[in-house]
Amino acid sequence: MLKKKVEDICNRQVEREGYSSNLYLAMASWAETKGLAGIAAWLYAQAEEEKMHMLKFIKYINERGGTAVIPAFKKPPVDYKSVEDMFREVLKHEQFVTSSIHEIVELTLAEKDYSTNNFLQWFVAEQTEEEASAQEILDKLSLGAKNNLYHFDRSIMKLRSGEDKD
Ligand code: FEO
Repeated sequence: MLKKKVEDICNRQVEREGYSSNLYLAMASWAETKGLAGIAAWLYAQAEEEKMHMLKFIKYINERGGTAVIPAFKKPPVDYKSVEDMFREVLKHEQFVTSSIHEIVELTLAEKDYSTNNFLQWFVAEQTEEEASAQEILDKLSLGAKNNLYHFDRSIMKLRSGEDKD
């Protein structure tokens, strides 16, 4: 049975993962309207992953005798100055989610909730990957990809699968 404090902070994370999904959906839609189909595909796929993260928390809370709450989500921004600016927001957001996951880890240690701590380890590893992936994209953009968005847009999905790191 989940302690109330742990249940509450996990429900907070349901909202944060769900918001992440909507944020990337909004970014995907923005990229699509700019004709950047590859970047949009990357972000749509990211939005799906975030939805899956939210579901993991919902199912975990319910499985452990708690009650998952499906919240209202605030509206994500609809416009971005540039692709680089948008990916800076992606990295910033992922850093925020990482610190949020780490806070839950800290609470589980304080509460001696080792099961939830174990459940969270997947997210700890996932956040390392997600930050690295956003950073890699930003590095490519600052190295010149922003001056050839056509090429970058065609190659970004390869970064997801790790097939082609050129
Ligand atoms: Fe599920 Fe990227 O945070």
